[in-house]
Amino acid sequence: MTSISQITAASYPSKSHYYDALFIQLQALIAHEHDAVIIMAQTAALLHFSNTWHWTGFYRVSKHELLLGPYQGPPACSRIAFGKGVCGTAWKEARTINVPDVNQFQGHIACSSFSQSELVIPIYNSQNCICAVLDIDSTETHAFDATDVAGIEKLCTLIRLDT
Ligand code: SME
Repeated sequence: MTSISQITAASYPSKSHYYDALFIQLQALIAHEHDAVIIMAQTAALLHFSNTWHWTGFYRVSKHELLLGPYQGPPACSRIAFGKGVCGTAWKEARTINVPDVNQFQGHIACSSFSQSELVIPIYNSQNCICAVLDIDSTETHAFDATDVAGIEKLCTLIRLDT
């Protein structure tokens, strides 16, 4: 494997440039890789260390609940039921959920008191079923804007997990 030079958001002139660079790097990192754990681990590490986010990682669909998957950050909740919290709601409603202030989201699961805003994006398998969610948390409120949502959703199109 060729070495990866770590991207940092602060070194790009705009967020769009940053997400364009991340897209190219993630593509190179997980191209030809089919193992779900490797894909999730590499994605979480690349994203997390390119920014100042508090927690970046995956929850995997398993029957009626989400199970903690590869992530970067402090310890988190191990299991989240279907429809519960931001992650369970994103799974149930099959949509990206951007929560500018977790204190305003009824049912938010506070794994860490430091998380103030979060972005959760469904991840699909090759049968087009949701098989995981990507969860990114910030210690700042209103951390994610429309450019972040579009940029991270586009990154997620590179991820197809078959477990
Ligand atoms: N806050 C999430 C739980 C996961 S942690 O943030 C890592 C939620 O409400 O779904």
